[in-house]
Amino acid sequence: MEIIREIPAMKAWVRAVRKRGETICLVPTMGYLHEGHLGLMRMGGPLADHLVISIFVNPTQFGAGEDLATYPRDLPRDTELAGSVGVECIFYPGAGAMYPPGYCTYVEVEDITEGLCGASRPGHFRGVATVVAKLFNIVEPDVAIFGEKDYQQLAVLRKMVEDLNMNVQVLAHPTVREEDGLAMSSRNKYLSAEQRKNALVLSRALLQARRRVERGERSAEALKAEAVRMIEQTPESTVDYVEIVDPVLLRPVERIEGRAVMALAVRVGATRLIDNMTLETS
Ligand code: PAF
Repeated sequence: MEIIREIPAMKAWVRAVRKRGETICLVPTMGYLHEGHLGLMRMGGPLADHLVISIFVNPTQFGAGEDLATYPRDLPRDTELAGSVGVECIFYPGAGAMYPPGYCTYVEVEDITEGLCGASRPGHFRGVATVVAKLFNIVEPDVAIFGEKDYQQLAVLRKMVEDLNMNVQVLAHPTVREEDGLAMSSRNKYLSAEQRKNALVLSRALLQARRRVERGERSAEALKAEAVRMIEQTPESTVDYVEIVDPVLLRPVERIEGRAVMALAVRVGATRLIDNMTLETS
């Protein structure tokens, strides 16, 4: 396992790979790896000659008062886990290398970033798009994999790649869940045992909506209201948003016809968690 910290060294590694005509799959992460990340890596392994991950807690995607300083970090553990699923190289840059003094170039994906997490975390997707564009320029992957748990992030990055004609195929990996349904997230670490139980309301509310659609409910308003009720009845849980949107441009829909995505963000104690599920009519 190679850990590369410097951008010129990473670029040299990529040049050598390219010279041999070989391909690269990149899984960008912020580290503190869990089974969800490992799923992305297992998916990526067979898709290219080289599997690279990046670990970078990207300061530009955190807002004031968010958890940048406390975001969990554990490189030795991450290295072992990544090695166990065939990762060959970890790109592990420092913030000073990614954003040196005088840095002033950002990628802004409009429209699709306005709702959902974009509304409650202003600037978040500008930071995500910027860092991922930089990672793509440095690692030059043929394929990059992102988790569907961060559904809006995936849609934003797909739009960025399309709009900026980037030479990378963006693939999605389904959300990986604990046995009881909680979507895996590095932030689950912040939850107490009691909060961990309360956090199940996210997946339960989504599953309940899915069942209601299967039984014929088509009104987005009714489905959202029921989810909000379930969340508000759960201790220590407050709704940030509950939305039902079209799967590509993430515009709110009024009726479920064909495929839609129900997405929600909930604060459980001080921890903000997100989750989503597809709602589909046959
Ligand atoms: O999903 C994440 O972990 C991050 O947002 C990403 C894509 C690695 C960019 O920092």
